[in-house]
Amino acid sequence: MAFKGLEPIQYGGREVWPLVEGGKGVSATNHLSSGAWAAAGGIGTVSAVNADSYDAEGKIVPQVYDQLTRKERHEQLMRYAIDGATEQVKRAHDIAGGKGAININVLWEMGGAQQILEAVLENTRGLVAGVTCGAGMPYKLAEIAARYNVSYLPIVSSARAFRALWKRSYSKVPELMAAVVYEDPWLAGGHNGLSNAEDPTKPEDPYPRVKALRETMRNEGVSEDTAIVMAGGVWFLREWNDWIDNPELGRIMFQFGTRPLLTQESPIPQEWKDRLRTLDEGDVLLHKFSPTGFYSSAVKNDFLWDLIHRSERQIPYSKVEAGEHTKQLDIGVRGKNFWVAPKDYDRARAWFAEGQTEALKTPDDTIVFVTPESRDTIRKDQKPEDLAGHRSWRACGRQSDVRGPRGVPLQAGPVLFEQFHPHGEAAGRPDSGGGLSERVSATTASP
Ligand SMILES: Cc1cc2nc3c(=O)[nH]c(=O)nc-3n(C[C@H](O)[C@H](O)[C@H](O)COP(=O)(O)O)c2cc1C
Repeated sequence: MAFKGLEPIQYGGREVWPLVEGGKGVSATNHLSSGAWAAAGGIGTVSAVNADSYDAEGKIVPQVYDQLTRKERHEQLMRYAIDGATEQVKRAHDIAGGKGAININVLWEMGGAQQILEAVLENTRGLVAGVTCGAGMPYKLAEIAARYNVSYLPIVSSARAFRALWKRSYSKVPELMAAVVYEDPWLAGGHNGLSNAEDPTKPEDPYPRVKALRETMRNEGVSEDTAIVMAGGVWFLREWNDWIDNPELGRIMFQFGTRPLLTQESPIPQEWKDRLRTLDEGDVLLHKFSPTGFYSSAVKNDFLWDLIHRSERQIPYSKVEAGEHTKQLDIGVRGKNFWVAPKDYDRARAWFAEGQTEALKTPDDTIVFVTPESRDTIRKDQKPEDLAGHRSWRACGRQSDVRGPRGVPLQAGPVLFEQFHPHGEAAGRPDSGGGLSERVSATTASP
């Protein structure tokens, strides 16, 4: 069948192509990519997640957190986030030159999301056409959009999630819901909204899921003008021919996340672009290391392998002898009171004999055995100056995508490890109080 092609749509007060540059935080997009996408007539998305701002000479402002208290560091982080996203929107809008449209993207689970979103919309009135928002249940999105008179485009991974959001909130502001983004939890890059009912190892066909979404939308009385944006695995439109002008699905648009990473305007390093072009089947891992608690897709790189291996050397413990934890650990924990199951005790001894001699606590009541070198790297990566901002995120909500300690753009990271320090305090983190409840990121390169 010949390719049907797409028709332009009305969005943000003008005619645009129904093609969206997916929002990508962690500096995987910026004004150059979003502005160029809009200039070509599509909908470019500026990410309001840890966006960069620039000094008078145009250099990226380093995001440093040297405040003494967590509250002040959190406030600093908010300032960076608001300034960065505002600047990115303004620059993207200039590049677009009146063509296409600019959306912004926020992750609802990111600390301070609402405050950041409102401040950016306030600073950029008239420049932003809509807000895409996922990661969590952003019930407040509709009322915020209404306050600033912009469209909103919720991101969901199932008809069920949409129904919950619609019933509780979006049905009150239907006229501004320009589209519903269906982000396929197996196909899409970045974080993935897999629910407990879905098996990460068993991808489902997106078509019946999107059909179910449209049926739900129809049952709830959502206007046929409200498009569904298909996100995940969209590369060539010709592969989606059956989806276009298909009455079962209704109005359809397409969102591209991974593919635009390869464009000239994409701000990711050239090595990443090269790596993406040489991937083989199986090189992308849907993993659970993200501190957000969501599944996340990433290319298996050395760091991810390290995490995979670390998590294989992970065992649960309790601080007292209880249940199946009947053996007291006498390696890697410097004499502290850690009780584990006998089978795990034997495994720990075997790892110890292999050189994985250091035990690190995780916030999940487990310990992980690593080499002294790996322990030192973790300790270095988690120096207070690197992590201050990340902990601030946590202070006001769950942490989301962050930039890694070595400046590597990140999608997600592993849990925080605490070392068994001779004096009991958490390694290198004077203000941590030895607490284990924080999750902070180290480095996981994405995509
Ligand atoms: C590196 C990377 C970062 C991403 N970051 C975000 C994000 O911050 N917010 C968001 O809503 N989606 C994010 N996404 C998802 C994209 O917006 C898009 O929906 C998805 O990548 C589409 O699937 P595809 O990668 O198969 O094209 C990200 C995707 C990638 C690859």
